[in-house]
Amino acid sequence: MSLVNYEKRGAVGVVTVTNPPVNAMSPGVPKGIVNGVAEANADDDVKAIVLIGAGRGFIAGADIRYFSLPWPEGEENFSDVIKSFEGSAKPVVAAIHGHALGGGLEVAMACHYRVIVPTAQVGQPEVKLGFPPGAGGTQRLPRLAGVKAGLDMIVSGNPVRAPRAAELGIVDKVIDGDLLEGALAFAEEKAASGGPHRLARDLDAKLDDAGIFDAKRQEIKRRARGMRAPYACIECVEAAVELPFDEGIKREREIFEDCVKSDESKALRHVFFAERAAGKIPGIAKDIALRPVKTAGVLGAGTMGGGIAMNFANAGIPVRILEQNQEALDKGMARIEKNYANTVSKGRLSQDDMDKRMGLIEPVLDYAALGDVDMVIEAVFETMDVKKNVFAKLDAVCKPDAILTSNTSYLNVDEIAATVPGRSGNVLGTHFFSPANVMRLLEVVRTENVSDQVLATVMDVGKRMRKLPIVAGVCHGFIGNRMLEGYFGEAALMVEEGAPPQQIDKVMYDFGMAMGPLAVSDLAGLDIGWSKRKDAGGGEAVHERGSFVSNKLCEMGRFGQKTGRGYYIYEQGNRTPVPDPEVAQLAKDAAAHFGLETRDFSDQEILERCMYPLVNIGAQILDEGFALRASDIDLVYINGYAFPVWRGGPMHWAGTVGLKTVYDAVCRYHDELGFAHWKPSPLLKRLADEGKAFEDYDQED
Ligand code: 3HC
Ligand code: NAI
Repeated sequence: MSLVNYEKRGAVGVVTVTNPPVNAMSPGVPKGIVNGVAEANADDDVKAIVLIGAGRGFIAGADIRYFSLPWPEGEENFSDVIKSFEGSAKPVVAAIHGHALGGGLEVAMACHYRVIVPTAQVGQPEVKLGFPPGAGGTQRLPRLAGVKAGLDMIVSGNPVRAPRAAELGIVDKVIDGDLLEGALAFAEEKAASGGPHRLARDLDAKLDDAGIFDAKRQEIKRRARGMRAPYACIECVEAAVELPFDEGIKREREIFEDCVKSDESKALRHVFFAERAAGKIPGIAKDIALRPVKTAGVLGAGTMGGGIAMNFANAGIPVRILEQNQEALDKGMARIEKNYANTVSKGRLSQDDMDKRMGLIEPVLDYAALGDVDMVIEAVFETMDVKKNVFAKLDAVCKPDAILTSNTSYLNVDEIAATVPGRSGNVLGTHFFSPANVMRLLEVVRTENVSDQVLATVMDVGKRMRKLPIVAGVCHGFIGNRMLEGYFGEAALMVEEGAPPQQIDKVMYDFGMAMGPLAVSDLAGLDIGWSKRKDAGGGEAVHERGSFVSNKLCEMGRFGQKTGRGYYIYEQGNRTPVPDPEVAQLAKDAAAHFGLETRDFSDQEILERCMYPLVNIGAQILDEGFALRASDIDLVYINGYAFPVWRGGPMHWAGTVGLKTVYDAVCRYHDELGFAHWKPSPLLKRLADEGKAFEDYDQED
């Protein structure tokens, strides 16, 4: 079947793009559109042209794969399509349903008119791929929608819905009934009016407020830290205001082409495809029948249980939340209510929606209330005995095909599943991240016996909660927390070797992390690790390399932010970490205790010692089969640990450094330091020897 079809409907030539699944502008599509427009123009009976998409939407933009592939020699492209509209003697009407995104909206805006169904969305999401729109979007959108609205859309990359698009003047008419019929009538009417048929390029991009560009740069400073594309978008829109149309287009093209080549864009394109791959589980059919999950239960209304219950309610799934006693239940419900109220007060949720969601959460104390629910997530204390105990209770009351999951951070979910042998095909892990109602990552922990259907169902429930579910295997800490040990471990080790906490944190912050590892430790609370070490040491935390300073801080009652002191000092009501000479002294004591020479650290060494263990352990996890693909690991770090998205995740980033460089450094640090997280991964070695990146590994069978 051809990618673009042409047919005559009365006096209108209809050009239909048929390139499933999303009508991207792959090779052949531009040519088909150009040919359709030419055919209509050559036919005296045709008075107007309608451009429409078959299937789910209008056009989803350029075919993103072709930013990394050569465009076929001599093949028509966007600019040919746009020229064909501009040269058309007959008005061209874009008829939009589903989505007109990126190049899709650019094509639509180059038409004379646009009509849209009420449910469709239009947007310029290119910034999320690391470049500004490159087919005139930055020049036409501000002309149609006004500079402010155009700038907002282009810099944020967020789409707007049809009614707003009409209000802004991006589209001419909202069609309530059948789109094609409406578009045909509209096209005939415009043809009959005799014109002139205005093009967006003929309008001016009027600037009401000269300060808007600098204001935008200020506004995005935090969010766009380390990125080029959002600023490139601003530059392009500035060109729309300052330059004549054709020069603006030229300027846009230069900036676009420069950005497409950047590491930032390569990383963001990697993330785009990584997200689409993440939902696919080899061996499980895409259309496998799912178990219905219409009702749910949550055990524990603490930090995580409350957030998880909110996730169910947000997805419209009624949920019963169970606690040990009334007091804990009331406390948990009050926290949920406060969370929702905060969102309402920020204007991001209506009171009505909050009431509906609260109405879906039912507090209960009796396990019998969970007898008929389809799925239960356990979020009680992180102790194997407690978990086993509650699973035994669930076993006694839940219906036989209920899905039972544990939110454990580290415990062996196979061991938990083994306590309910008759149900082990229905038991798995769902590891949410804190705050559970906010964080997008969900590790779905695949137990040995879980059925394909249950695994696929839980992935789907995660998507219904608007999470990004990633399959992980059963190993200590699954994907994310297992990798993290080396990262935090090295930060603590370097403190003992003389690196000031503020230098370590600054290096990681400048790399793009939201916070440095020691500031994060202060935020999470140093006492958590300390208490584990005390348990392991029979009541006393043994001073091992990497735990000396943290132990001493805890012994002094310095647990981090919550006590106003940890690795840093925090003034009352202020979360800014202030360096503390007392910590420098503790570091010296640690060095003396272990017989180490303290020394100055280069920023490069700090970066390597924090980051390379992530890559090395990531490779081990991959090799051992606990992650399905390297790109899943990247998504875990971006969505669960605030790794800068524009670096593409640790595994992709390692490829930009070169796996050989990373591997050689891992071997060197292993020789020098010897810690387990430096034990070179055989997979890392193989890929380094073969001159490959983790993306190559993902392509291997
Ligand atoms: N190019 C190539 N493939 C694309 C694509 C595109 N623009 N958009 C989607 N796909 C592919 C996906 O990779 C996926 O493939 P798979 O089935 O093999 O995994 C398939 O289409 C379906 O995609 P989704 O799973 O994302 O489908 P949804 O229905 O959830 O979402 C969508 C549809 C909203 C269109 C979403 O796919 C999307 O946001 N696409 C990207 C839109 C975009 O960024 N456009 C700008 C492109 S750059 C550009 O146009 C440059 C221009 O300025 C010159
Ligand atoms: P929490 O201490 O805040 O909440 C646990 C709740 O479970 C308490 O309210 C407690 O009363 C309740 N509870 C304990 N035993 C119970 C029982 N037998 N029946 C019913 N309720 C019971 O703990 P948090 O932080 O919510 O952690 C819960 C689980 O989530 C743990 O397994 C933890 O490892 C995991 N987790 C925690 C994260 C975090 O950042 N806090 C992140 C990801 C996972």
